[in-house]
Amino acid sequence: MKTIKVDLGKRSYNINIGKGIIYSTGKIIRSVSKCRACFVVSNKDIADLYSGILKRSLIGEGLDVKCFNVAGSESAKSCSSWLRVIRSLARFDKGKGACLVSLGGGVVGDLGGFAAATYRRGIDFVQIPTTLLAQVDAAIGGKAAIDLDFAKNLVGAFYQPRAVISDIGLLKTLPVRQIRNGLSEVIKYAVVFDETLFSYLEKHMADILRLNPRCLEYIISRCSRIKAKVVSIDELEQKGYRSMLNFGHTIGHAIESASSYSGSIHHGEAVAIGMSAAFDISVSIGMARASSAERFKGILKAAGLGYKINRVSPSRVLAATLYDKKTTNGIRRWVLPERIGHGIVCSNVPAGIIRKAVLRLY
Ligand code: GLY
Repeated sequence: MKTIKVDLGKRSYNINIGKGIIYSTGKIIRSVSKCRACFVVSNKDIADLYSGILKRSLIGEGLDVKCFNVAGSESAKSCSSWLRVIRSLARFDKGKGACLVSLGGGVVGDLGGFAAATYRRGIDFVQIPTTLLAQVDAAIGGKAAIDLDFAKNLVGAFYQPRAVISDIGLLKTLPVRQIRNGLSEVIKYAVVFDETLFSYLEKHMADILRLNPRCLEYIISRCSRIKAKVVSIDELEQKGYRSMLNFGHTIGHAIESASSYSGSIHHGEAVAIGMSAAFDISVSIGMARASSAERFKGILKAAGLGYKINRVSPSRVLAATLYDKKTTNGIRRWVLPERIGHGIVCSNVPAGIIRKAVLRLY
């Protein structure tokens, strides 16, 4: 098992990475928490596969366990769903000092994290991400949120887990579309921070898509290390460093929002398109070379990710881009690649260039 530390002083924690480590969850929790019970938030599909293993590991360490399933879709992040979790947790907890464990992808991680942050002003929390996207990004760094009916992630907190347990073995049941969805975020890290990772992806993409454990462990460790460093430096996204993780997300979120979060396009798919547009913008303003953009398109193609929009209208995407929540004091900041392995944050990108980049996505 590999461990990578997220260094946040007294709130530091380890990301544990390895195959089969879900069996050691009880021991890991024992080492980071004084809890006497675990409240596991999951969804039915994931719980059917893994809650038995997880329960045995927790009970084996003398922990009392309750599993609570939420919907397997974004609707699990509604206010009413959060309240159901809190009510069930409160009925179970009754002075046990429960630790909340999220077992699932980004939705379950966000909801569980927000419930842990808000119940009794914060209880111990452990993330067991079961998707590639959550293992490389969403489960690390403490962003927790639920949705309002008209806006995603509007109610939230920064609330760090006590541990992240990324079991590579759990990825074997993921549909290939979900693997691609996560690969989009892996490509994001490579473009913005890590050319070595990018070259690795170019060389090993076929093996990664075949879920070769060695390749998966390499990319998950590499991304986790980057994310741990970014979060250690700029936990609350106030220093302009964590916002580098938003590469591809400005237009990506706009595409998701313009499609009314219908699920027709997955987050990573939208981010892949958003990254393509960011590359286009960067080439247009003379910052990145066209050859880097070509290399980038090559990796998207190898991963089976597209860079064209085919369902939502350009005007809706452009309008949604204007309402991106990363806009501060009316200034829109863009994370743009300067070259493979190095991104920078830019403001004042001319609106005409953005418009043309969006229109070229069709
Ligand atoms: N997923 C971006 C972040 O955690 O900041």
